[in-house]
Amino acid sequence: MSQIAIDTDRCRKDLACIAVCPSGTLAAGPGGYPMEAAENRCILCGHCVAICGSGAITHSGLPAGPFLPIPRKLPTPELVDGLLLSRRSVREFKAQPVAHETLATLLDIARRAPTASNSQNLHWIVVTGRESVHALAEETVRFIRASGSHPAGIARWDTGNDFVLRGAPVVIAACTPTPYEWGRQDCAIALTYMELAATARGLGVCWAGYLTRVAALHEPLRRALAVPQGYTVHGALMLGHRKFTYPRIPPRKPLSVQWNPGQA
Ligand SMILES: Cc1cc2nc3c(=O)[nH]c(=O)nc-3n(C[C@H](O)[C@H](O)[C@H](O)COP(=O)(O)O)c2cc1C
Repeated sequence: MSQIAIDTDRCRKDLACIAVCPSGTLAAGPGGYPMEAAENRCILCGHCVAICGSGAITHSGLPAGPFLPIPRKLPTPELVDGLLLSRRSVREFKAQPVAHETLATLLDIARRAPTASNSQNLHWIVVTGRESVHALAEETVRFIRASGSHPAGIARWDTGNDFVLRGAPVVIAACTPTPYEWGRQDCAIALTYMELAATARGLGVCWAGYLTRVAALHEPLRRALAVPQGYTVHGALMLGHRKFTYPRIPPRKPLSVQWNPGQA
């Protein structure tokens, strides 16, 4: 059944909707108006509606919610580059909790991240409160200790240094259904959106690699996180109000790149 309707009184026939459709769902039809030419191909990305300057298209299959206006003034490249380059992994947090509305905003931004075929398969787990977060670190350390790996980290833990979650007041983990083949990539992209949005708000963020790795191997940690049956945790962030700010950006290794491989 057709999900896309064209208001021919409004349509300017620029056919931008056909050009931007990633799945070839739309084609030019009678009178030069776009029409839904192939059913069951649409990936529900919303591009046909979003591109239409005259508001001539409606799509009944999209999730409920408005099409938000694009800000008239986007940040300059200098501002965006400044954010990207000045982001650091923050491992020292104030005890102050992060406001619920801020976390809700970060989740809302992260759910806008691209996903393969627009599948939007992510499920989020948010743990707030230093004690609850510490309990996750403890469970992670239990596994690492029993496995005999990372003796240096265990020695630090035993002297009160939480090398796993760094005393953060919040942990946010991203999961997808286990059989979904792009889960790792989709979660990494969404978590990166979240990391940058949090950084822009002055929060400190660090990827929680130990927690992520152990959550894949250790059932008690999965239970502590209440990971839904059939889901895999692909990544997690610790975040909170940062204790320190960095006045300098560290150097990186030289770029390794091939331009136009195979060409003389
Ligand atoms: C996938 C991933 C996992 C990471 N896991 C941890 C972790 O468990 N603990 C930690 O302190 N840092 C972790 N990091 C942070 C890296 O150590 C950090 O990104 C790197 O040292 C570069 O520093 P920068 O982020 O400040 O540029 C992780 C980073 C990534 C991308």
